[in-house]
Amino acid sequence: MRRQVDFLIIGSGIAGLSYAIKVAEFGKVLIVSKTSINETSTWYAQGGIAAVMYNPDTYEKHIKDTLAAGNFLNDEKIVRLTITESTERVKELIEWGTHFDVEESGRYALAREGGHSEFRVLHHQDKTGAEIQRALAEKVTSHPNIEILENHFTIDIITQHHLGRIVRRTNTDIQCFGAYVLNPETGEIDTVLARTTLIATGGAGNVYQTTTNPTISTGDGIAMFYRAKGIVDSMEFIQFHPTSLYNPHEKPSFLITEALRGAGAILKDIKGKEFMERYDKRGSLAPRDVVARAIDSEMKLSGADHVYLDARSIPEREIMHHFPSIYAKCLGLGINILKEMIPVVPAAHYICGGIRTDEWGRTSIHNLYASGEVAATGLHGANRLASNSLLESVVFSHRASLDAVRLNKTTEIQSGIPDWNAEGTVLNEEMVLITQSRKELQSIMSNYVGIVRSNLRLKRALDRLAIIHRETEELYERSVVSTEICELRNMISVAYLIIKFASQRKESIGLHFSIDYPPVKQ
Ligand code: FAD
Ligand code: SIN
Repeated sequence: MRRQVDFLIIGSGIAGLSYAIKVAEFGKVLIVSKTSINETSTWYAQGGIAAVMYNPDTYEKHIKDTLAAGNFLNDEKIVRLTITESTERVKELIEWGTHFDVEESGRYALAREGGHSEFRVLHHQDKTGAEIQRALAEKVTSHPNIEILENHFTIDIITQHHLGRIVRRTNTDIQCFGAYVLNPETGEIDTVLARTTLIATGGAGNVYQTTTNPTISTGDGIAMFYRAKGIVDSMEFIQFHPTSLYNPHEKPSFLITEALRGAGAILKDIKGKEFMERYDKRGSLAPRDVVARAIDSEMKLSGADHVYLDARSIPEREIMHHFPSIYAKCLGLGINILKEMIPVVPAAHYICGGIRTDEWGRTSIHNLYASGEVAATGLHGANRLASNSLLESVVFSHRASLDAVRLNKTTEIQSGIPDWNAEGTVLNEEMVLITQSRKELQSIMSNYVGIVRSNLRLKRALDRLAIIHRETEELYERSVVSTEICELRNMISVAYLIIKFASQRKESIGLHFSIDYPPVKQ
């Protein structure tokens, strides 16, 4: 089937939906979502969205915290514009129907998380993402100009390459004409032609064994963009959240929000002793890279599979009011967090790098924008400040929408695009090979490219990955295209990029820590 739209959006999280609401006033919109509209990282976000709301907080303080968390590798211009636009974008979410918690005084209740010098995180209990996603999805599904294609998998963006022209990585004139989209149920591949396209495919946590990310987060957008010879950035900076619930075999790992530490919960070792003060004077509320490394080190010292988070000092009323989902989840596993400590372990959580974009969400490929976790805007530098990600998504989707509306007026739909060549055979053994390779890849990344890295570990990872890469490409050439094989290829590309960027960084900074380059003491 061939489709033609003004705006194509790949992804239905906060980045895709907030952009859709804006551009839908100017043309026909198609949103492609891999599974259901709400199965996104956005839905799982707990802590909230950071924004400057009241005195004594200021834009300067939020900017300073963001730069400090990012070890000053951030792009300061991007940091400034993101933070100074934070209040406006949050007010817009509220206008669109998002309910954030309010104090008795009528002011929004603000939480504090690691690395923040002020209380500035707007939240909806401990399920902020679900509330934002609900509000956005309601608006989008009732809009006459927006069509949503759920359970459809975008395989590749369409560029000159598909017109039979050779596209080189150094080419600065690559154009995007839309995307090829698979309906996994029928096996049909649609050719979707668009004037402009937004990639909003989220993160890539599933390249690791333990992750807070839903299963949809396999780095598809980064991989398809890289295949199209676009420029990616900062791929070495993978954020491990210090506190996911230790519950082996549960996928995704259940997050224990940092806001719980903001409310007073303290990290303790396996014997119940505090340890964070030995690593950082900010204790349990130090930035995530510091806390995750400290936990990793404590676990290696004790040989235990987890540490504890002690929330027993937080009043019952506050737990029930602000953290009802965490309370219920733990209770379901037999842990009463009012009386018992919570076993926690770090988990892959967020990719700071991705598709390089400018201040308008523009990528190195013409007519193609990126926003949300898939993008590397320069906001996060070497480490993302908690709750800055939902904010980044709304700021850059807004900016990209302004630019795309302008560009759409002068951009024609490309003619002569061929349909996808769907030749191939179904191999009986295919599924088991794909599943096994996926597990091997996750094991390589967790063992050699995790919180603590070294030159030797990275080399070993690359050597092992090369074997899986070769085997997968052979399989891909012979078989009928499927979501599973495409995801595996994408995860291999993303893993390769993480290893490559990590190998090139000859220092320990922020989320990239190598024992071969000990951090310089300040
Ligand atoms: P997502 O919300 O992940 O949406 C991605 C979309 O792309 C999905 O619709 C998916 O189906 C689609 N997609 C992907 N690949 C394809 C494909 N090949 N074809 C078609 N569709 C595709 N950040 C904060 O700021 N504050 C928080 O409190 C917070 N808490 C978090 C808690 C958890 C457990 C997690 C996992 C993350 C949290 N984050 C938080 C990070 C934040 O939620 C994400 O970075 C953000 O929601 C990403 O939004 P997005 O729109 O870019 O991607
Ligand atoms: C959390 O609630 O701890 C997650 C916040 C984030 O990832 O920004």
